[in-house]
Amino acid sequence: MQNSQPIILLLISFFIYDRFLFQPIDAIGDLRIAYQWKEIDYDWPNDDVKKLFPDYNREDNLPLGLDIADNRIFVTVPRWRRGVAASLNYINLNDTRESPPFIPYPSWEAHEYGSGNGTPELISPFRLKVDRCSRLWVLDTGLVDIMGNPEQRVPPALVIYDLKDDTPLRKFIIPPDQRTADSFFANIAVEDYNCEDTYAYLGDLGAPGLVVYSWKLDRSWLVKHHFFHPDPKGGNFNVSGLAFVWTDGIFGMALAPTPDGYSTLYFHPLSSTMEFSVSTKLLRNPERINSPESFHEFQPLGSRGLNGQSSVSFIDPNTGVMFYALTNLNAIACWRPTNKFSLQQQSFVYVDNVTMIFPNDLKIDHKSNIWILSDRLPIFMYSRLDPDDYNYRILVGSTEDLIRDTVCSKDFDISSKNPDNSGMSFIDTNDIIPEIKKDREQHYNGAGVSDISKTFGSLIITMLFFLFLS
Ligand SMILES: *[C@@H]1O[C@H](CO)[C@@H](O)[C@H](O)[C@H]1NC(C)=O
Ligand SMILES: *[C@@H]1O[C@H](CO)[C@@H](O)[C@H](O)[C@H]1NC(C)=O
Ligand SMILES: *[C@@H]1O[C@H](CO)[C@@H](O)[C@H](O)[C@H]1NC(C)=O
Repeated sequence: MQNSQPIILLLISFFIYDRFLFQPIDAIGDLRIAYQWKEIDYDWPNDDVKKLFPDYNREDNLPLGLDIADNRIFVTVPRWRRGVAASLNYINLNDTRESPPFIPYPSWEAHEYGSGNGTPELISPFRLKVDRCSRLWVLDTGLVDIMGNPEQRVPPALVIYDLKDDTPLRKFIIPPDQRTADSFFANIAVEDYNCEDTYAYLGDLGAPGLVVYSWKLDRSWLVKHHFFHPDPKGGNFNVSGLAFVWTDGIFGMALAPTPDGYSTLYFHPLSSTMEFSVSTKLLRNPERINSPESFHEFQPLGSRGLNGQSSVSFIDPNTGVMFYALTNLNAIACWRPTNKFSLQQQSFVYVDNVTMIFPNDLKIDHKSNIWILSDRLPIFMYSRLDPDDYNYRILVGSTEDLIRDTVCSKDFDISSKNPDNSGMSFIDTNDIIPEIKKDREQHYNGAGVSDISKTFGSLIITMLFFLFLS
């Protein structure tokens, strides 16, 4: 009995150390906040320009889509409400301010309604993509005052800029027979292995479909499939206690190159927990794509389970890992497409109840940095954002660091670990939060405090105990 006392004290001290010294453990993963804003303001050159935007109302401006070029971050500000100044902007990456003002792209004039006849160059894009050929692909919905009196100002279009001199290269209006009044083009993926023969995949979440655009042919075609539709049971969302129902079709799209010169497109509807895939060899073939035989060339991969709705996804060209956002869980997760699509083979890489409320876009640059924009969109839509709180953030981190010691790492040996502690098997259960905590602590311990410093901390507390007792 006498001899067991130090061991008991050691156990107690471990317990105390874990419980108190590092409280609160409220996040997993290693991302840095690059920028954060309470509200968005613009880099107004002078008062005369400001007068050209009489409807401007700071709280109407919510950043939503992003991508990175060499030294700029592009950010969209869709016209949810009337008071948006510029719907496409950038900030210089060398800007060291915490909340830099937005600089309209390509110019202030491109966003000005003008007197009477003016239709601006850009209306209301949601998402955009920088390709590896120095082009910026902007998918403009053409829809304004979306939450007030929605008006289709101009047809939805793809506007492509040359990033070398910021001039428009092309504007392609999505043909009327490839959309309906319900259409809503919210997301774009660009297959850019060949600069002259580039393809863009435009997701229509309102009238579920995929418009495939060929740069070489300067024409597009519409692809329809059951898998683009929302799941009738996948419409319940709950973001930080705010519950709502959405019925959105195809949304998340991630391209993985295949050796035949094409790609696998991994995709999922927003109101669904399912993931699907299809080869771009099929999508790129307008003759074959809508034939009855091609139906079965689309693959259902599996479900992320209850609460597993995902918004955006993106595949890191360097690690080959897919990163995707979990809207209900304030989380970013990973999956390696060469693995089976099971929850055991997926893992959280970042969870934070404050900084990751509604991850709305996610991109990975050529240096394998992951960039994530979170913006609390449901609170903006259905409640009210607190102008004194940080509401919008751009976070950045290394993909290698995020997947280290997870099932997505190439070196991870799933058989050597307790299957309950790896992957995301918890999502299938109703009681998600305790399981997230378990996962979080596991990651936190792995990524943050080293075992050595932990042991030292425990030893110090153990010594204090002995002093106290003696
Ligand atoms: C930041 O970059 C922009 C454009 O690349 C440049 O014009 C500006 O001078 C730079 N600012 C600083 C502080 O280096
Ligand atoms: C995270 O948010 C969920 C609900 O949104 C809550 O139940 C949970 O306690 C939060 N976790 C932490 C660590 O704050
Ligand atoms: C949404 O989640 C909160 C906890 O974060 C819970 O209290 C609430 O009941 C949920 N609402 C619905 C409708 O499921």
